[in-house]
Amino acid sequence: MKKTKVYDVLVLGSGIAGLSFALKLAAKGCQVAILTKKDQAESNTNYAQGGIACVTSPEDDVRSHIEDTLVAGDGLCDETVVEQIVKEGPPRVRELIDFGLSFTADPEGQPSLGREGGHSQRRILHVKDITGRAIEQALLAQIEREAKVTVFEHTFAIDIITRNKLKGKPSHLDPASNQVVGCYALDVRSGEVNVFQAPVIMLATGGAGLVYQYTSNPDIATGDGVAMAWRVGVPVQNMEFVQFHPTTLYNDSDKRFLISEAVRGEGAILRNMAGEAFMEKYHPLKDLAPRDVVARAIDSEMKRTGSRHAWLDITHLSSESLEKRFPQIFAQCKQNDLDMGKDWIPVVPAAHYVCGGVATTLDAETVLPGLYACGEVACTGLHGANRLASNSLLEALVLADRGAKAVEKYLAKVPPMEEPIREWVDYGGHSEDERVVLLHNWEELRRTMWDYVGIVRSTRRLTRARTRIRNLAREIQEYYWNFSVDPTLLELRNLVVVADVIIECALQRKESRGLHYTIDHPRKEKIPENSEVVKT
Ligand code: FAD
Ligand code: SIN
Repeated sequence: MKKTKVYDVLVLGSGIAGLSFALKLAAKGCQVAILTKKDQAESNTNYAQGGIACVTSPEDDVRSHIEDTLVAGDGLCDETVVEQIVKEGPPRVRELIDFGLSFTADPEGQPSLGREGGHSQRRILHVKDITGRAIEQALLAQIEREAKVTVFEHTFAIDIITRNKLKGKPSHLDPASNQVVGCYALDVRSGEVNVFQAPVIMLATGGAGLVYQYTSNPDIATGDGVAMAWRVGVPVQNMEFVQFHPTTLYNDSDKRFLISEAVRGEGAILRNMAGEAFMEKYHPLKDLAPRDVVARAIDSEMKRTGSRHAWLDITHLSSESLEKRFPQIFAQCKQNDLDMGKDWIPVVPAAHYVCGGVATTLDAETVLPGLYACGEVACTGLHGANRLASNSLLEALVLADRGAKAVEKYLAKVPPMEEPIREWVDYGGHSEDERVVLLHNWEELRRTMWDYVGIVRSTRRLTRARTRIRNLAREIQEYYWNFSVDPTLLELRNLVVVADVIIECALQRKESRGLHYTIDHPRKEKIPENSEVVKT
């Protein structure tokens, strides 16, 4: 039988942001439920390769990391946010080490620091090329020991439930007049939708790479948190800044395996079809220029030479040393009949990271009382128009910590909920015919975004994409009310929202800046502004 589950705090997502936030709150005595839509380890975090950008070496300094972040962000970062996150990084990373995470060390036992695009120093802490998996495992091991945290796997959060907190009748979508009371979540295994009740929700649902046909992201990255926040009237910002990672392995799959930027950090060179090293034509930092520049350069070389990929050449290093430094990438290349030490690797850009998201303060607060967001789902102001490599794991750790402090204060003052939450109403059954249509809709959406809202944009293409996405949205809305919900439908419902807000933000920006490049407005405006979309 269905029963409302009651907690102090609900955490949606079990990547670095959700897990580290849950641990902090449990330490403060809160009963925490983590809802995660697949296995608990399945997350973007689990696939992170390069590492965490953090100032740990005496040769490095905080100012330099701040400067590099601001340069990559192309004038749109919030400087206060950048300063704070960079400064608070080292103690947060120390906590991971205290949890038992051991970063790769040099022969003297000092952390071996990697380099990536846009960084003027070696400052990337890593665990070979499996940093994310090591972090995920270290955090999950802590969660396992924490009696106050319950993890609900295969539990898909559908929608945030809010209540008016003021007397009278404020507008339903005025988030400041409402407060969070819980969420509906689908038990994917039983098909039941349950109510989880709590005065606080932390959105830690990660990214949205699946909105594009080609992505480095795993299948969980469908922008659910952005869509949920948007549906309750919370502003979503800077969604046009989708980071295309320059180097994913080119093959005939839509899933693109990442070839870490750390490979270029060890001296790999990008070459075009004629074998020419081309990056010096595009940026003084050549192959280690910020990602937006490198992805556009590859795109331009591919178009110029009519080729399907570029080459990445790291053959100046031996196969043995490469296998030691990059065991996962080496193995993946081998599966594709490539020996990194001898063969050039065919690479293409693919959607990798969404710099925008749910607008939050530096304490992870949104405008809706009780709703918080951290990690890739959030837009704090750190990344501006282009994220500096390996800054996202860092941001998630810092925001989880600051968010936990803010939530503790909120819980001390929020009044208890009086009326019960109504149960979910199921609108119907399933039909196999409709399922096929849904899968076609998925493909159409992802292809439209790839073809019309990619690395180089134009107003005409964006407008065309908007028309198509809005038609899809109408169709999906009809299905949604006529059929029982399941993950495919719910994710598609969220992806159309994400696609729409990306296009809306892109159309708002009448300039080219960072990751957003449009041929109709190729220059930067003098005064940088955030784009913002709010449901009306
Ligand atoms: P995630 O780790 O993605 O976790 C999201 C969680 O939310 C998942 O558990 C998911 O199942 C769950 N979820 C989503 N929707 C729902 C829902 N509706 N209901 C319930 N649960 C839900 N960044 C770096 O800083 N350094 C790197 O080296 C690096 N390498 C990367 C390599 C790859 C291949 C990729 C894809 C990304 C990389 N990034 C890197 C980016 C970084 O990994 C992510 O930005 C970061 O891990 C996001 O963490 P998160 O906790 O916000 O989200
Ligand atoms: C990579 O290893 O190239 C990914 C790093 C990142 O996305 O920050």
